[in-house]
Parts: sequence; C-alpha cells; structure tokens
Amino acid sequence: MAQVKLLLLFMLTFFLHNLCLSSHSQSSFVDTQVWSSSHHKVFNVEHFGAKGDGTDDSKAFEKAWAKACSASSSSILLVPKNKKYTLKPVEFRGPCKSPVTVLIKGTLEAPSKLSDWDANKMNTWIMFNTTKNLAVRGGGMLDGKGQVWWQKSCKINSSMALLFRKCKNLVVEDMTVKDGQQIHVWFRRCSNVDASKITISSPDESPNTDGIHITDTKNIIIQNSIIGSGDDCISIVSGSRGVIARKILCGPGHGISIGSLGSNHSLANVSDVLVDDVRLTGTTNGLRIKTWQGGRGYAKHIIFQNIVMDNVKRPIIINQNYCDQDEPCYVQESAVAVSRVLYKNIKGTSASKAAITFNCSQSIPCRHISLQNINLVGEDGNASTSVCSNVVHWKQDGNVIPAPCALN
Ligand SMILES: *[C@@H]1O[C@H](CO)[C@@H](O)[C@H](O)[C@H]1NC(C)=O
Ligand SMILES: *[C@@H]1O[C@H](CO)[C@@H](O)[C@H](O)[C@H]1NC(C)=O
Ligand SMILES: *[C@@H]1O[C@H](CO)[C@@H](O)[C@H](O)[C@H]1NC(C)=O
Ligand SMILES: *[C@@H]1O[C@H](CO)[C@@H](O)[C@H](O)[C@H]1NC(C)=O
Ligand SMILES: *[C@@H]1O[C@H](CO)[C@@H](O)[C@H](O)[C@H]1NC(C)=O
Ligand SMILES: *[C@@H]1O[C@H](CO)[C@@H](O)[C@H](O)[C@H]1NC(C)=O
Repeated sequence: MAQVKLLLLFMLTFFLHNLCLSSHSQSSFVDTQVWSSSHHKVFNVEHFGAKGDGTDDSKAFEKAWAKACSASSSSILLVPKNKKYTLKPVEFRGPCKSPVTVLIKGTLEAPSKLSDWDANKMNTWIMFNTTKNLAVRGGGMLDGKGQVWWQKSCKINSSMALLFRKCKNLVVEDMTVKDGQQIHVWFRRCSNVDASKITISSPDESPNTDGIHITDTKNIIIQNSIIGSGDDCISIVSGSRGVIARKILCGPGHGISIGSLGSNHSLANVSDVLVDDVRLTGTTNGLRIKTWQGGRGYAKHIIFQNIVMDNVKRPIIINQNYCDQDEPCYVQESAVAVSRVLYKNIKGTSASKAAITFNCSQSIPCRHISLQNINLVGEDGNASTSVCSNVVHWKQDGNVIPAPCALN
C-alpha cells in the first residue's frame, strides 16, 4: 500500500510541474495482491443470522465483522447478492488483525424510520472507524432511504450514509450509494485512499446531500465515478492534502468545491489538489473555492484541468467572501489565503453571464491565478464575462474566453 502514497505523490509532483501524463489509463494504483490472496477466510453475514427479509440485520453484520476483523489472515466479509439487508446505524471498528475486504454484492438498506437512529449520537448510518488495509467493493448498493431526513433537514443534526473515519490504506471500489440521509460518502482523517467506480445518486432537490466529502485526509484519489446529488459532487475541506479527482461525471449538484474554509475564524488548510478530466452537467457551480472572512490558513497548489461544462451556472468561481448564515458577514482583516490555482483546458457553456468570478479578499487577495485555454460561452450562445475583485499576479496562456478581468 505504500505504493499508493508514492504514486499519488509522484502524480501530483508531475502535474504540479505541468508535465504531461496520460490521463486515460484505467489502472488502479493499489497493490491489490493484499486482497486477492487465495488464503482468505470468508465470513458470510447469512451464517451469522442475517436474513435479508426486512428485519434488522445489524447484529448479524456486527458479529460477522468481529470475526473477520479478528481473523489472523486476510478475510472477506461477504454480503450475498440478490438480497436487501436492513441495517440500523452500525460502527465497524478496527484496527483489524489482518486486511479485511467487505464484499458487498447485495443491497444494504437504512431504516426508513428516524426513530431507529436516536440511539446513535453520531448520526452515521455505516461507519468504518480506525481501520487499516480495508477494502470495500463488490458491485452492491447502499440505499440510505434519505427521504425522511430531507423533509426535516433543518431540524436535525448533519448525518452521513457512509463514513470512513481514521483509516489508513483504504480501497473503495465498485459501489452505488443512493438517497443518502445527507453526505453520501465521507472520508475523514484518512490517508492513502483509492476510491473508484462509485456511483452516487440522490435528487437534485435533496438538501445537504454532498456526494463525497473529504476532511483531514491525505493522499486520496477518486476516479471513474458518477455523482449526482443535491449538494457538492465532491467537497474538500480543511486538513486535506494530495487529493486527486479524475474521470468524474458530476451533475446534478453544486459542482466540485474546495471549502467552505475558515468559518468562525477557524484555521483551514487545503493543498495539492488535482481535478482532472471531469464533466459537469447542469450544476450550480463548476469549480469552486469558497472561504469565509475572518478565517486563517490557506488553499493552495490547486489544478483544475481538462474540464467540460454543460450549462453550469457559475463555471469558475473563487469566493473569499462566502457567507452562508442568516446574520450578515462583516468585513474582516484575516482570511484564508488562496494562491497558485491553475485552470487549464476548460470549455463548455455557462448558464449565467459571468462564467468566471473571482471575488477575493480585500486584505488577502488571491495570488498566482493562471488561466490557460479556456472557452466558456453563454448557454444561449451569448458572450460570457469575467467578474473579479482583489486578484494579484495573474497569468494567461493561450486563448481565454471570457477574457480575464485584468485584461478587459
Ligand atoms: C472510533 O474508535 C475509537 C477507538 O479506536 C473510539 O475511541 C471512538 O470513540 C470511535 N469513534 C466513534 C465516532 O465512534
Ligand atoms: C444533535 O447533536 C447534539 C450534540 O451532539 C445532541 O445533543 C442532540 O441530541 C442532537 N440532536 C438530534 C435531533 O439528534
Ligand atoms: C490544518 O488545519 C487543521 C484544522 O482543520 C489543523 O488541525 C492543522 O493543524 C492544520 N495544519 C497545518 C499544517 O496548518
Ligand atoms: C464559533 O465559535 C464560538 C467561540 O469559539 C462558539 O461559541 C460557536 O459555537 C462557534 N460557532 C459555530 C457555528 O461553530
Ligand atoms: C462577493 O461575494 C459576496 C458574498 O457572496 C457578495 O455579497 C458580493 O456582492 C460579491 N462581490 C462581487 C464583486 O461579486
Ligand atoms: C442574448 O443576446 C440576445 C441578443 O443580443 C439578447 O436579446 C438576449 O437577452 C441575451 N441573453 C442573455 C441571457 O443575456
């Protein structure tokens, strides 16, 4: 698994120096041998009492996990196909003695009653906590049954369908997550994560349903995935470094977002992010960086490249004056610094007139922003425009349409 880390660092280093690497290889960077050993022991949840008949199967899953996790050699926790298992909020806690693969072939369903959640203060449906060398794959589905949550989204605490908390060396592959309560998949305090072939779907109007949320996570690649939801397709927040998102189809939703960062005067840091080969369709934002006034820290070394936008409302946006609260946000001296952001090979249509918006901080302006080969036109064929304030150190290469403000 050290390979993942090395390869991610390698890729980032190369991209950051703007060299050319093939972005079309389908290969995964993880040493899958760890999980494909023929000596693994299989723990089938049905052998622990799971019925898949609509009754609560949580206890059976917990027992099967306990066995798989304490096995002395690589093991598989098997969820058979063609059945739907009902799980109340569960925690699968590690660290395990040996690598574990959770092979989900069937469907996992969340309870449809909110009362089944009350005991769980974390409001997480399925949590993998403190794991090392874990793989979750199998082609199955997680159905969060989020409808009851969406109706009351303002009255209840934030929740998530699938949380990986404090994990090291993780593979998540070939899985569908639908109708999450709120965030669909959350990686929090993880390192070395390879996520691929993930399909996420919930309705456009479902509130706070981020696709993939990344917090405090180092070296993560998300690729070959399709994400449509009511909030950000991918959101990357503080403490995250070495993040690659590539070959992603995004929409509906709020686009790909770094932030929000620095709320409530907090310290925030995000760096070394590569967003490559992404198509955004009908999203409210495309590529967004958002920070609150009064925060500290940075968002830096960020590359957005090879992006196609289709009817996106705010295709390129940096907002250092983000304010998402009832009370007005006052002008503040400190800010999360935004610097070294490259936008390269970006084309398509903007659903609003301003295709490029840089709304930067008066006290800490955006620095070293590069635009290279951009062609964003209005949906109706009209010209689009750039709007900006407080950007210093611009760079333009090739054609940039709309022309960056500084050159207007
Ligand atoms: C995660 O597991 C750790 C022990 O490894 C425990 O202390 C902690 O309470 C667990 N976190 C949650 C949110 O359950
Ligand atoms: C929300 O979280 C707080 C603090 O963790 C807890 O006291 C409260 O009961 C939770 N509310 C609901 C509706 O879950
Ligand atoms: C990054 O921000 C987190 C808070 O999200 C903080 O705990 C950590 O110390 C910061 N790291 C650096 C290098 O600033
Ligand atoms: C903001 O910080 C203050 C002081 O630390 C705290 O009392 C308040 O709950 C925080 N608000 C939010 C929304 O985190
Ligand atoms: C910048 O963003 C703030 C908050 O979203 C907004 O009030 C302000 O009008 C914006 N300024 C520009 C120049 O777009
Ligand atoms: C597009 O241009 C046409 C003709 O100039 C104009 O009538 C129309 O209002 C424009 N649409 C937008 C959204 O600006």
